[in-house]
Amino acid sequence: MQQTVKLRKFKPDDLQSVIHINRLCLPENYMDFFFMDLHQRFPETFIIAEEDRKIVGYIMCRIEVGLASYGLGGLIRKGHVVSIAVLPQGRRKGVAQALMDIAIKGMVYYKAKLCYLEVRVTNDPGVALYKKLGFEVSRTLKGYYSDGEDAYVMTKKLD
Ligand code: ACO
Ligand code: ZN
Repeated sequence: MQQTVKLRKFKPDDLQSVIHINRLCLPENYMDFFFMDLHQRFPETFIIAEEDRKIVGYIMCRIEVGLASYGLGGLIRKGHVVSIAVLPQGRRKGVAQALMDIAIKGMVYYKAKLCYLEVRVTNDPGVALYKKLGFEVSRTLKGYYSDGEDAYVMTKKLD
């Protein structure tokens, strides 16, 4: 990633910039309180990328408890990437990869044993990003999105 891009934790003052990027880049949008709730509960996994003090990307996640896969046994904590986006002009510079790396460190800090997310089956940049980071498709959710598109659930074991 370029030296001019800085990653840091989300602060409440960043909310409008993050909402702007979310609406510009993704059809899945949320109310203010949804962003703030994730920030308050999981500050280590809500990260923004800044270039020349302008926010160019974000990642926000949630820690959940669920049944283990990978033979880990019992209930485990899972890091769920709820949303990640980078402004079009900031793409293909490694920003999303850097955001994912920091968020995954936050998930490990919260004792998550695996990381998962849903991604549209036609989202080639997204699927390529996650594959590069070692995620695998674990299943397909038929008609997951409000427009009827299917989602891949992609998962990565954390250590
Ligand atoms: N085509 C092919 N591979 C790609 C592409 C692309 N357009 N974009 C990223 N990749 C893969 C490549 O392997 C890339 O490594 P490389 O550049 O060395 O080849 C790797 O991902 C890392 O790319 P980054 O530069 O870190 O990714 P970027 O900062 O451009 O952001 C993102 C990728 C977040 C998917 C961006 O395209 C975006 O914001 N898209 C719209 C929003 C979106 O789809 N978000 C994900 C939805 S799923 C969810 O939020 C859980
Ligand atoms: Zn999700």
